[in-house]
Amino acid sequence: MNVLVIGTGYVGTTTGLVLCEKGHKVTGLDIDEKKVEALSAGRLHFYEKGLPELLRKHLNQNNISFTTDVKTAIQQNDFIFICVGTPKKKDGSADLSAVYSVAKMIGTYMNKYKVVINKSTVPVGTASKVKEVIEAENGKVPFDVVSNPEFLREGSAVYDALHPDRVVIGSSSKKALEMMRQLYVSETSPIVETTPNAAELIKYASNSFLALKISFINQLARLCDMMQVDIDEISKGIGLDHRIGPHFLKAGIGYGGSCFPKDVSALITIAKEEGMILSILEEVEEINKSQPFYFLEKVEKHIGGLEGKSIAVLGVAFKPGTDDTRESPSLVVIDELVSKGCSVNVHDPIVTITNPSVKQFDHVFDAVDGVDAIVLITDWDEYLNLDWQKVKSTVNRPYIFDGRNALNKQELVNIGFHYEGIGKP
Ligand SMILES: NC(=O)c1ccc[n+]([C@@H]2O[C@H](COP(=O)([O-])OP(=O)(O)OC[C@H]3O[C@@H](n4cnc5c(N)ncnc54)[C@H](O)[C@@H]3O)[C@@H](O)[C@H]2O)c1
Repeated sequence: MNVLVIGTGYVGTTTGLVLCEKGHKVTGLDIDEKKVEALSAGRLHFYEKGLPELLRKHLNQNNISFTTDVKTAIQQNDFIFICVGTPKKKDGSADLSAVYSVAKMIGTYMNKYKVVINKSTVPVGTASKVKEVIEAENGKVPFDVVSNPEFLREGSAVYDALHPDRVVIGSSSKKALEMMRQLYVSETSPIVETTPNAAELIKYASNSFLALKISFINQLARLCDMMQVDIDEISKGIGLDHRIGPHFLKAGIGYGGSCFPKDVSALITIAKEEGMILSILEEVEEINKSQPFYFLEKVEKHIGGLEGKSIAVLGVAFKPGTDDTRESPSLVVIDELVSKGCSVNVHDPIVTITNPSVKQFDHVFDAVDGVDAIVLITDWDEYLNLDWQKVKSTVNRPYIFDGRNALNKQELVNIGFHYEGIGKP
């Protein structure tokens, strides 16, 4: 089938290439000419494991092409995926301007029946509003709007998109639903067919529930710190209960990224608009916002104040496997350390930071050279497998603060480090 994907970021590019894997012909459209140029030349403009290989494969087999030509792209395709960003506005709600601008474009150029599929994460009722925007531009050509939210995780986007836990399709049109079934005919994962409103809410509810698990375990980790109990043992003990499950129970410095913070915030706002306070999510958000500061208090306490200290921050990406720094706790930590008068060395295997107040190093051993403390924020494998004996011989003072509870405490203590995690007595 001929599929157009509008917005060639993390979700759009992955979606397009995975649809190629399933045998469809895909066009990727973006307003950013540089991205289109790079993708057409086989270069990915962001970091995602496995995606460059898929890109080159499907470019070589002529299964995918990239363009900025809106009119041709819309007219030549039957399925149109909207995969543009929906960032957080100042009031916490989702900024839908890119979604509506795409809807307007579709309405302007639509020449025959299309299924318009919203993959961007959007508030309940957006499918109807997208329909209205398209109709306002072109009331004559029939079309349907379907909600098909995306659940992939950056860092394992290809695997997730190829093997989703479920595919959610929200449609109020039998014709569109039948066409979506054909598009996903080779899908072996469960397909949840529902209304557009429910599909939109499923996406926010999923991310909010995962964020809730993280904030739950993070708050419990603070209690563990007070009670000299190891939070990892609590996570294991409760996670083996199949009603709870082991995932998203790793205590640490808090969640970040382009999805959880904005989606929790958007769901709170959606509820407010209905006259309801989603107090449970307000607390989730509050715990998450305060977690980096809770962690930094430990650093301050153990190394005897922050002013004038030299600190190495390991990891800028919001999690391993991605170059995404949107809402990364690392940025909060770096800003706070700088504002408290620290000299900050930064290292990340993928991300280059543009902050004149810090020094960025290409090699981790240069970043830790002569520092008073190491603060680990992103649990890249490179850090987990580091020669810590060598690190010990490089630092000024042997302090490690593990914001992900990812390092081997006993090994580090044996080498002679003072180790602090979160909820790790
Ligand atoms: N990143 C994730 O892990 C993830 C996972 C699931 C869902 N989502 C959701 O998917 C959506 C997209 O997220 P993303 O991370 O891929 O965003 P992104 O910022 O990486 O990509 C968005 C792309 O859309 C393009 N764009 C913006 N306006 C456009 C327009 N008018 N016409 C054509 N292109 C336009 C931008 O240039 C950009 O390349 C968001 O709603 C997000 O919440 C993201």
